[in-house]
Amino acid sequence: MCGIVGYVGSKQCLPILLSGLKRLEYRGYDSAGIALMTDSGLMISKAVGKIKMLEEAVNHADLQNINCSRGIAHTRWATHGEPNELNAHPHTDNFGEFALVHNGIIENYRSLKEYLIRKGVIVKTETDTEILVHLIRQNYKGDFTAAVRDALSQVEGTYGIAVISTLHPDTIVAARNGSPLVVGHGDGENFVASDVSAMLEHTNRVVYLQDGEIATVTPSSYAITTIQNVRITPTIEEISWTLEMIEKEGYDHFMLKEIYEQPTTLRNAIRGRINFEEGIARLNGLNLQYDELRRIKRVVITACGTSWHSALIGEYMIEELARIPVEVEYASEFRYRSPIIDDTTVLLAVSQSGETADTLAALREGKKHGSTALGIVNVVGSTIARESDGGVYIHAGPEIGVASTKAFTSQCMVLALIANLLGRMRSMSPAHGQELMTCIQQIPDQIEQILKNERVIKEIAQTYHAKDNFLYLGRGINFPVALEGALKLKEISYIHAEGYPAAEMKHGPIALIDESMPVVVIALKDPVYDKVMSNIAEIKARRGRVIAVATEGDKEIVDKVDHVVFVPHTHHMLTPLLSVIPLQLLAYHMAVLRGCPVDQPRNLAKSVTVE
Ligand code: AGP
Repeated sequence: MCGIVGYVGSKQCLPILLSGLKRLEYRGYDSAGIALMTDSGLMISKAVGKIKMLEEAVNHADLQNINCSRGIAHTRWATHGEPNELNAHPHTDNFGEFALVHNGIIENYRSLKEYLIRKGVIVKTETDTEILVHLIRQNYKGDFTAAVRDALSQVEGTYGIAVISTLHPDTIVAARNGSPLVVGHGDGENFVASDVSAMLEHTNRVVYLQDGEIATVTPSSYAITTIQNVRITPTIEEISWTLEMIEKEGYDHFMLKEIYEQPTTLRNAIRGRINFEEGIARLNGLNLQYDELRRIKRVVITACGTSWHSALIGEYMIEELARIPVEVEYASEFRYRSPIIDDTTVLLAVSQSGETADTLAALREGKKHGSTALGIVNVVGSTIARESDGGVYIHAGPEIGVASTKAFTSQCMVLALIANLLGRMRSMSPAHGQELMTCIQQIPDQIEQILKNERVIKEIAQTYHAKDNFLYLGRGINFPVALEGALKLKEISYIHAEGYPAAEMKHGPIALIDESMPVVVIALKDPVYDKVMSNIAEIKARRGRVIAVATEGDKEIVDKVDHVVFVPHTHHMLTPLLSVIPLQLLAYHMAVLRGCPVDQPRNLAKSVTVE
């Protein structure tokens, strides 16, 4: 998604804006730009490609020596208009008095464009964003914030914007509707950004703008009003994240760092949430009393991408441990269906960023139909977290790599805790609860064991990294892990990979099997082990190459497959937290060997805040 950074203060703003953009690179982008408020007016520089290209453009325009302490900057993930310098943000009005950056989509930009052209405005680009800055100019009558407010009241769609003007050189006006925007509060300086990572090295005191809010920011103040011009008292939040949490700390990529963080992040997900004596999870954030938990008749889990895979795992956990029917819905589908839910249905929205547009819309749809909506979210203060009736933070810390890894395992851990809690409200005995809790507490150490196998996995990647297709198979609760393994490979190595229930292979995919098709099979010592071994035999009979994820101590599998990575034994319902680790590392090493930009895969964004 697009990234926005703005600064008003007394320091030179160019380095602050450029380093802020670098902190937002993980969001995915294809061009970048900057607007500086100088004594001789607005200075704009833009470039296609990475921020390094923008830095070269800034130096080429000799802007690096300009004395300037106010400005805005942007990384663009193209929606309307191809990725080129003309379409890159910031966009300016015809008089060069306003500059604007935007994240989101203006749905009615065409009709607004016709209106503006009739008023004599010259529109220079194919973007919806440019229309916004002309509209603000059209509405300007001396009050900068009022001009933005009046322009936005004509707009349909989503936006996070930051605007500067030569007519008010000390001010940034920012506004939010659907695309996240944060105001950072410093000493004699203030910031605006798409997320806190862009300002963390300067301040950890932030105000999250809500939908329909406008911030008027100067070096010494910020005032927040609504689009209806109602004054809001801002709530300052102190962010607990530290700078090193958003640095690579010696790892080649954020993704590898985050894979290795999983023992720690899972300990954080568990911490304070286990009542071992009663074998029950303690999840006060759900804001549900025991009798309300007992009244739940059905659970719908909605999410996208990797979070949808953890949701599928949650379905197996809750149905097995709590005997409550669960349905998992793609958020993008759920939001447009007329779902059959009522006040005995609980809707769980799973989202690392807490800003995914489809998941947020699904949450709102569920609430409209009377369900209790709970969020399983990583980013504190995110929109889904704030709009849920309750929920559980997964405490995985900032996940910078576009490919989700530590958030996935922490989502699965929280879903296991929820399944335990719901189960103990029903027929799950304290002893069974305690058995599950014992296994839960062993998971972080067991992942540390698996990570010691990285070299084995890297060697497997060396054998197969030139392949163009992969098949991933799993059964039961490990079928969603096969889907997740395939997604990881797809999104960072660009290899076509499909996940399938192992038994489905004979209904089609087996036609793909030959010596050129590597097949990853999750073959743990579980109730369906023998069935999976039959599937492996079917693959081998057709000269397929099999990479197995197996349970430590399984001697039988070794000479039936081409490669095997072992994971420790655990409670069947927790096996996905272990079986996914080798698949994360395999995808990572395949992508590295293929020379792919692991942390910022082409066309992808870390948080999809547009439909
Ligand atoms: C996962 O590796 C992808 N980056 C993507 O599928 C992601 O899981 C999806 O966009 C949902 O994001 P969220 O968890 O922030 O809602």
